[in-house]
Amino acid sequence: MKYVKLSIQEPVAVVTIDRPDCLNALNSQVFREISATLQEVEANDQVRVVILTGAGDKAFAAGADIAQMVHENGKQGKELALLTHQAGDLLENIRQVTIAAVNGYALGGGCELALACDIRIASENAHFGLPEVGLGILPGGGGTQRLSRIIGVGRAKELIFTCDQVDAQEAYRIGLANHVVPQEELMDACMAMAKKIASKASFAVTMAKNAINVSMSADMKSGCSKEQDLLGLLFATQDKQEGMTAFLERRKPNFTEF
Ligand code: CAA
Repeated sequence: MKYVKLSIQEPVAVVTIDRPDCLNALNSQVFREISATLQEVEANDQVRVVILTGAGDKAFAAGADIAQMVHENGKQGKELALLTHQAGDLLENIRQVTIAAVNGYALGGGCELALACDIRIASENAHFGLPEVGLGILPGGGGTQRLSRIIGVGRAKELIFTCDQVDAQEAYRIGLANHVVPQEELMDACMAMAKKIASKASFAVTMAKNAINVSMSADMKSGCSKEQDLLGLLFATQDKQEGMTAFLERRKPNFTEF
């Protein structure tokens, strides 16, 4: 891979967008490499949590590559949108939990990748924003759909229409960032959360992720029905037996299923 680096420290995979000279701008190849890397990680039974971050100390990713897009026509724009959505869909739906370690600017397509992750942890110098309408386009990597689901329609419309950026503290205040930490502590904070999640019953975590994701597109009744089905499924697992027996025996559980 040219622009994406994968480092596995079981049970955690760290995926780094590595184009720091242009603030990790996302061209088509970067999006393809992110998707290929996530597919590789999803197939790895030893990895329970994926951390996505950007190389350098200035940017997570400053958006889709404007130097590429400036030359592109409508068909190519649609192709780029498909690539951005493929990466976003993987972050949102792979069986592992995904954490965005937002280490600086997360703009445009970079913000959209962070939005597709399950959890966002920001460093104090992070800035989030969707500047697309200032470039004559719109957020085409899921931003118009995911931002409003995370921070509400009113705030999402304001950020998208004005192109205003929010800093880390404001992102935390409006629920865009789960936590804000000093930059030098960012990866440790993400790793600590990743390990905490990985210590739980992984198959149950995946099913919980699945059920919560269903809530974003289903009505309450079908979402609750899905939740009931998944609970029934989990009652039939070894890990449910182990988790409850361990509680009653006052010992730590030894979960094995994924
Ligand atoms: N695409 C291509 N190159 C980019 C880039 C981008 N999105 N963002 C930054 N760069 C490049 C700059 O051109 C510059 O390159 P050179 O050194 O070769 O001139 C280098 O990265 C450093 O950037 P700056 O000098 O601009 O750094 P700064 O600290 O002054 O500003 C910034 C930082 C505010 C993030 C500014 O770079 C910026 O506004 N970037 C563009 C942000 C943007 O509009 N992103 C949205 C793209 S649209 C999109 O993402 C569409 C979609 O959803 C599919």
